[in-house]
Amino acid sequence: MVTEIRTINDESLDLANSLLLKGEVVAFPTETVYGLGAWAMSEEGIAKIYKAKGRPSDNPLIVHVCPGFDLSRIVRKIPESAQKLMDAFWPGPMTLIMPKNKAISDHVTGGLDTVAVRMPVDKSAMALLTRTGLPIVAPSANTSGRPSPTTADHVYEDLKGKIPLILDGGACQYGLESTIVDLTVDPPMVLRPGAITMEMLRKVLPDIVEDPTAAAGKSIPANVKPKAPGMKYRHYAPKGHLIVTDQPAAQIKEWMEADMKERPGENFGLIVSTEMADELKELGLIPNDKITVLILGSRSDKAAIAANLFDRLREADEFRLTWFYGEAFERTGMGEAIMNRFLKASAERRLLN
Ligand code: TXA
Ligand code: MG
Repeated sequence: MVTEIRTINDESLDLANSLLLKGEVVAFPTETVYGLGAWAMSEEGIAKIYKAKGRPSDNPLIVHVCPGFDLSRIVRKIPESAQKLMDAFWPGPMTLIMPKNKAISDHVTGGLDTVAVRMPVDKSAMALLTRTGLPIVAPSANTSGRPSPTTADHVYEDLKGKIPLILDGGACQYGLESTIVDLTVDPPMVLRPGAITMEMLRKVLPDIVEDPTAAAGKSIPANVKPKAPGMKYRHYAPKGHLIVTDQPAAQIKEWMEADMKERPGENFGLIVSTEMADELKELGLIPNDKITVLILGSRSDKAAIAANLFDRLREADEFRLTWFYGEAFERTGMGEAIMNRFLKASAERRLLN
């Protein structure tokens, strides 16, 4: 199959619409990451999503809707707490888990009695959803296990030849997947941290809690089942051995120098802030032609770090890094979501905090 990449205009949106109605899949941008969409009522389209991504079919999908969409078509009952969050944060990077109704098939929800719903704010996503008027199920448009795609090129890398169309809307604004909140439990629970932070959510629902299995930095005991089925899989993983650490530059230098002696066959690297790179330069570790340095952005600009993270993890693979250190960030604001993804991508953690 030839995979076309098209900019978003009337013609490409019409093409997307007809593909979706035929039970095909279409990749499209959102403010978080690119999604791989199918019409939520097309069993054929849903099956194609799982196949193209190589995704386990017990991992449920998020239904995307446009403003004005009648939620009673897919949701059995809108909890009061859900309405409050919708009023505050929709359209935007937040997904709500609510009781599903019969129109939503088990293949969307992986057999669960609940459905995940999101109304994206990105203008391209909005254009597609409004144009088609369809509820569109979409997981992130990556091959299962790889970092989520934040550009049309990332989608192409993973899914070329497997899907007919990628709508190109440029780089995603946030670069990390939506915050997921479960409103079918009391108190409401955050299953995946994102750009709508705990601080923001608490202002609307003061008693909201975080799923301990989703919290950054905490390892999941084998007997605990994560609430969002997707969170149990190893994610975003680059091929090499990534060590995420909150230790200072001098410690990283010491480890790296020892590694370079003991592991001469490895391809070394760093995924760090501009500030950390400057400190390592002052200490004399870099520049070094044996160490590839991938910069995330300034520590003081968490939004930039979040937006660049998945691209740098993909670059680590392109540079064939086999042994590399990643800098941990403070878990305030967007830092919670950054650390959640970074730690999931890591093979090893060396954290004191
Ligand atoms: O930002 C996003 O949410 C992106 C864009 C494309 O909208 N989508 C996305 O989808 O990240 P995906 O499939 O990669 O992640 C969805 C997560 C999975 O961890 C899944 O297990 C969880 O949502 N999920 C979906 N339905 C659920 C449900 N009914 N109950 C609990 N978790 C659910
Ligand atoms: Mg995903």
